[in-house]
Amino acid sequence: MPDSGLLKDNIALVTGSSRGIGAAIAKLFARQGAKVAVHGRDATALSAVRAEIEQAGGRAMQVIADVSKFSEIETMRRRIEQELGPIDVLVANAGGSFTRPGPLEETSEEGWRASLDGNLTATFLTIKSFLPGMKERRAGNIITVSSAAARRPHPGSPIPYAAAKAGIEILTQDLAAQVGPYGIRANCIAPETILTERNKQRIPETEREALVDLHPIRRLGTPNDVAQAALYLASDSATWITGIVLDVAGGSVMV
Ligand SMILES: NC(=O)c1ccc[n+]([C@@H]2O[C@H](COP(=O)([O-])OP(=O)(O)OC[C@H]3O[C@@H](n4cnc5c(N)ncnc54)[C@H](OP(=O)(O)O)[C@@H]3O)[C@@H](O)[C@H]2O)c1
Repeated sequence: MPDSGLLKDNIALVTGSSRGIGAAIAKLFARQGAKVAVHGRDATALSAVRAEIEQAGGRAMQVIADVSKFSEIETMRRRIEQELGPIDVLVANAGGSFTRPGPLEETSEEGWRASLDGNLTATFLTIKSFLPGMKERRAGNIITVSSAAARRPHPGSPIPYAAAKAGIEILTQDLAAQVGPYGIRANCIAPETILTERNKQRIPETEREALVDLHPIRRLGTPNDVAQAALYLASDSATWITGIVLDVAGGSVMV
């Protein structure tokens, strides 16, 4: 059953919610009363997230699309609109890192292009598909996802990923300026390292301790930390907040 209904009567799409941060956002939004389209490419993982939402009394559907392909996003949008209705809250979360950190001249052109495509272009294409309907309805709420990698140079951040995420930040701010008069808000969340299942496997315990030391709040972030920030931005508590980049970083980023 919904927790306290902060997103009651809202329809939300969270891209990249088959796992990780997106799954946490989808589940929290559903607990707060939103009908949620759960999205990704892995049908089995999507079914598990949808089932969890439904078992908790929420409403969800699952959709598959490669968000680097506009035609697939358009097909997905039409399916969601048919089944749930037009989207009120769009969380463009799908993305990831496609290269190792390292010297720029050793970064492959393919890695560069994959990073731009899978983050900046994917976010652009997702918003491009859903924005006309929001403008027509003169309502909507868009949340994009950057990274602490885009907030300051860091040797552990792959340059293509950092650059793509920095692009998402200014895209979000330009968008916020354009669509504010239509009653649409657009904000960006920039998380530091989050202990998703994937990162738990990737980052050994010893390395985690060193990472924790970089945070004034002495722990790493959880998917739920990011989900709570997304809920705030999506909710009516934030109706006068648009065009911000919200660092969800335990104090490790202060811009
Ligand atoms: N985890 C962190 O520490 C961290 C920190 C800062 C920023 N971020 C950002 O937060 C977002 C979520 O990260 P995460 O760690 O939760 O990632 P994750 O566990 O790797 O999950 C990524 C999600 O995005 C989907 N996805 C990726 N590319 C896609 C594409 N081209 N088309 C469709 N779906 C696609 C995946 O779908 P399938 O798996 O079903 O294919 C999956 O649902 C990303 O934008 C990431 O850059 C993460």
